[in-house]
Amino acid sequence: MASGKSIFFSLFTLLGLVNAHQAFPGRILNRASEVEQSYDYVVVGGGLSGLVVANRLSENPVLIIEAGGFTENEDWITIPLLSSANVPALGNGPKGTKYDWNMTGIPQPELGNRSIQTPAGKVIGGGTVLNGMVFNRGSKADYDRWVALGNPGWDFENLLPYFKKAENFTPPDPKVEEEGWDIEYDPAYHGEHGHVQSSFAPFVWPSTRNYINSMKELHVPITEDAMGGNAAGAYWFTQSVNPKNETRSTAQGFYDSSRPNLHLLIGNRVTRIIIDSGKVKGVEFSAKENAARSTVQVLKEVVLSAGTLHTPQLLQLSGIGDKIHLSSLGIETVVDLVVNIAPNIGNFSNQTWISEQLALYESKKEGPYTTLGGNFFAFLPVGTFSNQTALLSAAVAQSKSQYLSSNTPATVRAGYETQFALLEKDITSSSTAYLEFIFDDTAILPALHQPFSRGTVSIKSTSPFDSPVIDPRYLSNPLDLALFVAGFEYARAIRKTNAMQTINVIETYPGASVTTNQQIEEFVRAGVDTEHHHAGTASMLPQELGGVVDPELRVYGVEGLRIVDASIIPMLPAAHLQATLYGIAEKAADLIKNSYSRYDALL
Ligand SMILES: *[C@@H]1O[C@H](CO)[C@@H](O)[C@H](O)[C@H]1NC(C)=O
Ligand SMILES: *[C@@H]1O[C@H](CO)[C@@H](O)[C@H](O)[C@H]1NC(C)=O
Ligand SMILES: *[C@@H]1O[C@H](CO)[C@@H](O)[C@H](O)[C@H]1NC(C)=O
Ligand SMILES: *[C@@H]1O[C@H](CO)[C@@H](O)[C@H](O)[C@H]1NC(C)=O
Ligand SMILES: *[C@@H]1O[C@H](CO)[C@@H](O)[C@H](O)[C@H]1NC(C)=O
Ligand SMILES: *[C@@H]1O[C@H](CO)[C@@H](O)[C@H](O)[C@H]1NC(C)=O
Repeated sequence: MASGKSIFFSLFTLLGLVNAHQAFPGRILNRASEVEQSYDYVVVGGGLSGLVVANRLSENPVLIIEAGGFTENEDWITIPLLSSANVPALGNGPKGTKYDWNMTGIPQPELGNRSIQTPAGKVIGGGTVLNGMVFNRGSKADYDRWVALGNPGWDFENLLPYFKKAENFTPPDPKVEEEGWDIEYDPAYHGEHGHVQSSFAPFVWPSTRNYINSMKELHVPITEDAMGGNAAGAYWFTQSVNPKNETRSTAQGFYDSSRPNLHLLIGNRVTRIIIDSGKVKGVEFSAKENAARSTVQVLKEVVLSAGTLHTPQLLQLSGIGDKIHLSSLGIETVVDLVVNIAPNIGNFSNQTWISEQLALYESKKEGPYTTLGGNFFAFLPVGTFSNQTALLSAAVAQSKSQYLSSNTPATVRAGYETQFALLEKDITSSSTAYLEFIFDDTAILPALHQPFSRGTVSIKSTSPFDSPVIDPRYLSNPLDLALFVAGFEYARAIRKTNAMQTINVIETYPGASVTTNQQIEEFVRAGVDTEHHHAGTASMLPQELGGVVDPELRVYGVEGLRIVDASIIPMLPAAHLQATLYGIAEKAADLIKNSYSRYDALL
């Protein structure tokens, strides 16, 4: 009988702060009556981006309005290996937690009409309370595309200082080196004074050796430090984990010093941004659907950081959106925008083992519970995992926007065609990764990071308390299905390498019955899920390409309104999103401050 590691293949397509309540340096407000009449800045949403921006702007009076509240530092939030329990994963995870908005997309025709949950944090810290804590950046080429799309100042060289500003990096634990693991890093790519901790787990899963060797067998380049823009290859990744106590790290900027100008209203939702004659005047908010609405006046700007799913909802509720859609709901349009090996070291069905490892974590902050389940990922260009000629021909054969929904506005269509051209060109690039291959000791998970499909988020009613309609349109472009099929076959090729065979890795799921192209496609359609990197619902693009914000993140057509969150990302980088978002938020804070120092200089 084969006793060895078992592996199953699964597939993903598509975010991820915790603060001890006492540590908040500003004033916490619980009700509308405690809110001042006006603030220079009102930040909508106390998630990753909102907290970073508010912290940096708090030389001036700032109010953050957040629908959720603080966590209680529960183990399932703070302990790395338990973190994967925070989001519905692979169809059998928990169905949302008390810190989740629990939203679900509409049925997806290409997925046999399955609906996919789209977790989003309803909590101070937003997605970073729920995320998987992977802290990596995309390739230089991924960010340079943003400039190619008409956004000067957003290339990798320009972003790197902001990525570093946010980061507090700790080199690998010497113990790991003593165990014979060689984790290289280049200090030039890391910050040491930022708010978010980035560190390598002090425990390395023994099967990581096999995964690294399997990559070498398959001629995949091993990148020494992928944080410098060379992120197409296989590499050790850092986690947003505080190495002092091996717990989840969040917006620690709040611990630096006291922030008397910073007010945080919890348990309240922004219901509308008040715009008068094209200028933002204030924000309306409420604790409950049927409670009276309150307003707060804004002297400088509103920063909308409600997240990829709620930011477009609030824009639309405030009259910023597609005129035809908004008038169908009776909303007056303000701006017409479109918006070596010990196999089986981890046996999670062995309660004795689990108890021993948790005890090791509690007593010494060591062992597998310091990890996210793996230590080393591969982000691979098309040519590495598939026949790039075949995929390129299939892309060239498409008319660029034929798979968009037929009611896509012309400007959005034009913007997508520009993006499609970049996606098509980079099929043959060796510096842009399309698929990630996650290896976590029990599974190989191909995840698509450069999707050709595009979806929508739109309001269906005028109530801010109704969830928006989320239609990801997964696999609506058949190129995405082809990429997943190729990824599935490559996961099998990884399993067949000598390095993986040394530990007798067997495929338990889906198993030998799935062989033909059609069977693999059916497996993909039935199993594909989200990796939670939803983005681009209010893209930073020229207006004629369907953009919602300009390169300074100002909403077109309105004075005094910026968006700072994953909504503005015009095309996804091949990376988990949080490290990118910290950098975006740091840059945004500078853009806002600079625009007022310019203005003040004129007075
Ligand atoms: C999400 O679901 C969890 C578990 O069912 C529940 O405790 C929580 O209140 C829900 N969140 C919202 C915003 O309804
Ligand atoms: C999905 O739903 C649509 C609309 O209700 C229906 O026409 C179609 O047959 C369904 N597809 C599957 C695979 O059930
Ligand atoms: C871990 O340590 C940091 C500071 O070093 C502290 O802010 C945080 O609350 C600690 N986390 C837990 C869960 O004890
Ligand atoms: C894992 O532990 C369970 C329960 O202790 C045991 O039945 C099973 O055989 C173990 N699996 C392996 C592969 O060692
Ligand atoms: C379960 O784990 C304990 C502790 O690591 C180990 O001694 C025991 O052999 C394991 N049981 C099985 C059935 O694998
Ligand atoms: C790749 O696909 C092209 C076009 O379909 C085909 O001509 C070529 O033989 C394929 N190459 C390999 C190595 O399979």
